[in-house]
Amino acid sequence: MADWADLHLADTTVDGLPSWAETVAHLRDSGAPTAVAALRAARRAGRPIVQPRCGVGSHDAMIELLRSLAPAGPGMLTVTIDSFTRLRQFDHAARVLRENPADLNGYPLVAHGWQRGRELVATVDVPLEIRHGSPDPRDLFAVSLAAGFTSFEGGGIGYNIPYCKDVPLATSLECWRQVDAVCGRLAEAGVLVDRELFGTLTAVLVPPSTSLAVTLLEARAAVAQGVRCLSIAYPQGGEVHQDVAALRSIRELAARYLPADVEVYPVLHEFMGVFPRDRRAADALVLYGGLVARLGGADKVINKTNQEAYGIPDAAANATGIHTTLLGGSALLDFVRLDTDRVAEEMHWLQREVAELVDPVLDGDDLAGAIVAAFDAGRLDVPFSASVHARSEVVPSRDHTGAIRYREAGSLPFSAEVRRRNADLLRHGAGDPGRFIETVSADIDYFLHHERAFPVPA
Ligand code: 5AD
Repeated sequence: MADWADLHLADTTVDGLPSWAETVAHLRDSGAPTAVAALRAARRAGRPIVQPRCGVGSHDAMIELLRSLAPAGPGMLTVTIDSFTRLRQFDHAARVLRENPADLNGYPLVAHGWQRGRELVATVDVPLEIRHGSPDPRDLFAVSLAAGFTSFEGGGIGYNIPYCKDVPLATSLECWRQVDAVCGRLAEAGVLVDRELFGTLTAVLVPPSTSLAVTLLEARAAVAQGVRCLSIAYPQGGEVHQDVAALRSIRELAARYLPADVEVYPVLHEFMGVFPRDRRAADALVLYGGLVARLGGADKVINKTNQEAYGIPDAAANATGIHTTLLGGSALLDFVRLDTDRVAEEMHWLQREVAELVDPVLDGDDLAGAIVAAFDAGRLDVPFSASVHARSEVVPSRDHTGAIRYREAGSLPFSAEVRRRNADLLRHGAGDPGRFIETVSADIDYFLHHERAFPVPA
């Protein structure tokens, strides 16, 4: 291991990198479009930009993919990283890249190297973000910066608990602290790197207050290291008032819990759970996501596609998904009005739940230690997690409107009022309490049974 800009990296990574000074100069002076500029423009316009996920193994195919998606009108593009690189198996990624690049489920940036990364950045006229899922992203982050990427997704909770079985939270939090500290150094040098937080977590019936509590804690940890630009992502649950309340709450919670000079951009992930197989129902859900993002005041929306039920989308389906999402957020649907009282009621209770989750964790000097202790005791929890470092005692359910509530709150430190409201809302139409598995399964498959939500002709 060796150091580069205070990151502890593999020797082989450091050997290939340009100097820190050259990296900073390139980020500052290259003239390439930046993520923060795209987000600021979206905020000014009052409409979310759309971003697809996309990543393939070979360099030429990656360039081709970016070129083929650009005409669909994304405001930002992605380089999705392959699983070997996410897990720091850089040699293995390099071997598969040599032998059969089509076997990789994303772009192995560390194996390709930062020079090729710069070629990707120069290929299109929108900024690129690195999306991955690494509990220890340090080598990938260093190569990303050297390549000139200005947005990097992930955090010490959201890229650990949903993805890993047994990586201690203290380990991932420390790795991400180092990443955030480098962003702080860059901010001092006049370079804003957008740090996006993955509130989607396990993507299965995640209660909105759980998502927002986790990203707020990651945001506080990031800001403490000097991060000045945050995208806070929330996963569409499916009930429009609840989703709009959650997105609108991001700005209010940021104003309450984060310093005023930190830029915060709400992001919607189009529905991340089980997707309808019927292409027409899938398209409707993608359109709906664009609309919910716009109504909630999101600055960015990560689109899905009508191939979601079948795996990673091809370029044509992804381009269609971008276009359909843009349509959902366009002026075409500006006549749509929501029940503002219902949204206000949801916002009130959601923010109360978030406060009850995060305030005890923020009540001390050692934030990382408090997060670890809270997960250990179940005072923070993520449903359906495979990690041994989350209890997964919490069980969510949908109420009769489709909104996600706490059916079992486990050891979460909720007040009697919050527990009672969740129980009251689940009393009607939440399925037979004796048929637990069937009820929760039906809630997970909510949009698979698309006739419940999107009637389509046979
Ligand atoms: N390209 C495009 N989409 C991807 N996803 C994962 N890897 C890629 C990739 N390389 C998408 C999945 C799913 C979400 C979790 O990420 O299809 O929609």
